[in-house]
Amino acid sequence: MATALPFEEYVKVDGWKFVPPEEYLKEHAKTLTPEFWLSEARKIDWYEDPTVALEGDHPFYRWFSNGKLNMSYLTLDRHMENRKHKVALFWLGEDGSERVLTYGQYHRLVNRLAYAFSTKWGIKKGDRVAIYMPMIPELPAVMLALARIGAIFSVVFSGFSANALAERIKDSGARYLITADGSYRRGKRISLQENVRRATQMAPVEGILVFERLKRVWIKTEGDILADEFLKEVPHSVYVEPVAVESHHPLFILYTSGTTGKPKGIIHDTGGYAVLLNSTMDWVFDAKEEDVYWCAADIGWITGHSYIVFGPFMKGLTSVMYEGVPNWPDPGIWWSIVERYGVSIFYTSPTAIRLLMRYGDEYVLKYDLSSLRILHSVGEPINPEAWWWYYKKVGRERCPVGSTWWMTETGGVMISHTPGWKLVPLKPGTNGYPIPGVSVSVLRPDGSEASEGERGYLVINSPWPGMPLSIWGDDERYLKTYWERFPQRFYTGDYAIRDGDSYVWVLGRADEVMNVAGHRLGTYEIESAIVEHEAVSEAAVVGIPDEVKGEVPVAFVVLKVGYEPSEELAKEIKNTVREILSPIAVPKDVVFVSKLPKTRSGKIMRRLLRAVFLGAPLGDVTTLEDEASVEEVKRAYEHLKGELG
Ligand code: WT7
Repeated sequence: MATALPFEEYVKVDGWKFVPPEEYLKEHAKTLTPEFWLSEARKIDWYEDPTVALEGDHPFYRWFSNGKLNMSYLTLDRHMENRKHKVALFWLGEDGSERVLTYGQYHRLVNRLAYAFSTKWGIKKGDRVAIYMPMIPELPAVMLALARIGAIFSVVFSGFSANALAERIKDSGARYLITADGSYRRGKRISLQENVRRATQMAPVEGILVFERLKRVWIKTEGDILADEFLKEVPHSVYVEPVAVESHHPLFILYTSGTTGKPKGIIHDTGGYAVLLNSTMDWVFDAKEEDVYWCAADIGWITGHSYIVFGPFMKGLTSVMYEGVPNWPDPGIWWSIVERYGVSIFYTSPTAIRLLMRYGDEYVLKYDLSSLRILHSVGEPINPEAWWWYYKKVGRERCPVGSTWWMTETGGVMISHTPGWKLVPLKPGTNGYPIPGVSVSVLRPDGSEASEGERGYLVINSPWPGMPLSIWGDDERYLKTYWERFPQRFYTGDYAIRDGDSYVWVLGRADEVMNVAGHRLGTYEIESAIVEHEAVSEAAVVGIPDEVKGEVPVAFVVLKVGYEPSEELAKEIKNTVREILSPIAVPKDVVFVSKLPKTRSGKIMRRLLRAVFLGAPLGDVTTLEDEASVEEVKRAYEHLKGELG
């Protein structure tokens, strides 16, 4: 694997200053202290300045513990003097409707919401509130309004099912739910009401607030209130004093998939997180006053939290938000938006790039993209082919292109090219170096450092601002999942290698977690959904490489006695996953088998299933309990291929 990477390929972009790797590493070494982060912390506004960098018992650290701040103040109030009339957001609907909001207008909306939340609903510091909203301008406002009063919000991706929403409401103990009537998707009006109704039947809340994007589709029922009504009597001039919270006060909980068990509620603090975002906006995105910034992610994921809402708003940037998908009404839509608003910083996923690349160059070359100056990607490794296309056709060979590695747990970017700090020569497909203040290693299973070009486990060597506080309600699991595999180091679950220049190349997950189109899914979660179907006795899910999505799930299913495999049943099983989890998690294929290959200790050997599916060598099968199971999987798969033609 290591040797297949094009290590030797250096790219330098005209007009950008590049530093040699030695210089980066030398300067970087000076930043690896908590005190460095304390000096970064001084760059944001606090109600009470912190004087302590780091404290707490491993691994429950507190950053800047004696500092007090408020995220809503940092992202809005702070701009009222100089940026009140600056555009905070250009929002474009899929139906062509446009909304433009200034920082002043956001400030107003956030104050009115915060007022209504606290006076009408009695929401107070520490209360949890769930948010289930599509990409509309009110979503950041709701998050910031809750942060203003010290409430802890948990955003649930609006593509998730009723079950997934209910599970998150229950686990976080959310008192209220904030949602919208729906949104546009590929020309269709998609309502959220049915999901909200079913979710709140399973997990009741004290009230539901509904924003109207579609208008006149929401059928009012007991317990919900439309936003217009909710805000009707709230004066436009109302001001709510931001609650100065401790640095380690939780800002939000965001659920993410792990290898086993239910999704984990990752808790992020306020102070450490704010400092990490402020610094990475400078180093990674080189954010400047005049930039027009577009992170084309969904706010339902960490990328959107950190780099659509908090990071750019803290910097007072003008951002772009788009409601729709990249290839509807045609695959030029994104580039038309870059041209229309003069986007200068653009951030998307390799999946989106590969998708758009497949339509050829015609759509991207049609538009004037000369405003672009910095390009980044996130979510999965970017293959060199996609990197080159992004670099040449989108960036027109004028923009540095990076692949920022991080995860829900890290809060912000950890490994990336840093055009706003020191920029080392680009290599197509690499992540580059850890950002200042962050140290990573690639370790062998025994904990020793892997050598150059050797694949190992990526770990973060010491605490960093933006790290999780814990897993909601489960400190033990937090400790076990992240801090026990290699003592004192944060285990990421990713494979990586370092090349001869020490550049980091993250290769993908080392565990049973899949990355489907940049969305993180646990095999276990999908398997649990499949076995909910009455005909299923057992299921194993593996990720299979896919040209566009990176990876897609395939399910191997054992039926209960009395059920026969059929196409109909395969469809039903797929629907069960759609219902229980989300459309993103639906297996591409369902392969029926009478038993699954297992080790003698009863663990499913997913590695073998993957090998059969890919027609790859099976490798070591000495721990396999029953070889016939593999033969059967092979036959079932051949049969399926035959059927699919
Ligand atoms: C997993 C985390 C961070 C926001 C989006 C995903 C993979 C992420 C990269 C990259 C290679 C990447 C890792 C990681 N990943 N960025 N630039 N190169 N792999 O957040 O849902 O928490 O997923 O995404 O495997 O562990 P997430």
